[in-house]
Amino acid sequence: MGEQSPFSAKPTLVGSLVVLRVAERGDAAELMGVDQETIRLTGSHGELRLEELERWYESRHEQADRIDWAIVERATGRWAGEVVLNDLDVANGSCAFRILLQGPSFYGRGLGTEATRLAVDHAFAVGLHRVELEVYDFNPRARRVYEKVGFRHEGTKRHALRWDGAWVDAHIMGLLADERTVVPQSL
Ligand SMILES: CC(C)(COP(=O)(O)OP(=O)(O)OC[C@H]1O[C@@H](n2cnc3c(N)ncnc32)[C@H](O)[C@@H]1OP(=O)(O)O)[C@@H](O)C(=O)NCCC(=O)NCCS
Repeated sequence: MGEQSPFSAKPTLVGSLVVLRVAERGDAAELMGVDQETIRLTGSHGELRLEELERWYESRHEQADRIDWAIVERATGRWAGEVVLNDLDVANGSCAFRILLQGPSFYGRGLGTEATRLAVDHAFAVGLHRVELEVYDFNPRARRVYEKVGFRHEGTKRHALRWDGAWVDAHIMGLLADERTVVPQSL
């Protein structure tokens, strides 16, 4: 994909709680340290290797078909997680979304909602029409955040994940450009 990609430009997005800036090499060590609860909630199987992650992150500026942002907590300057727009489909005006915060000390303080709003607003600002995501059934907090932003449940992939010997359903949620909820004044 060349210059025409809506994801070629990768701006830093500034909210009141978080700043989203493009992921860089140094973020690899942070991702290596994510909490086990975040690993469970994202259903991430497999080992992370620092060298591979460093190569991955240092190439993020060059990718025209996705944007990988680090979520930085404004109050502390700490790496709080990452949020990604990927699976860009220019012909159909759509992309996918995913997010993770580092661990429980970052959960429940509004950072995830704000980072989600900033990322999906960017997708719509560059002309996309639809953003899609998947969320596991055992993650009601994430579902709540997505519903707050305006995502709607579109379907369920039954037994999409096997975690600790148990089958877990994955819910597909989608958000269209004109369905995005308005941010309350307090945010
Ligand atoms: C999912 C995630 C991004 C949400 O971000 P966050 O900063 O923790 O969420 P917020 O504080 O912005 O909002 C949480 C909302 O969920 C609600 N909530 C919390 N626990 C809940 C539960 N068990 N059931 C239902 N709602 C819940 C909160 O009350 C709040 O809603 P409110 O504003 O209406 O009160 C973050 O928790 C995270 O990264 N978790 C681990 C990785 C993960 O799950 N990634 C998503 C995979 S799909």
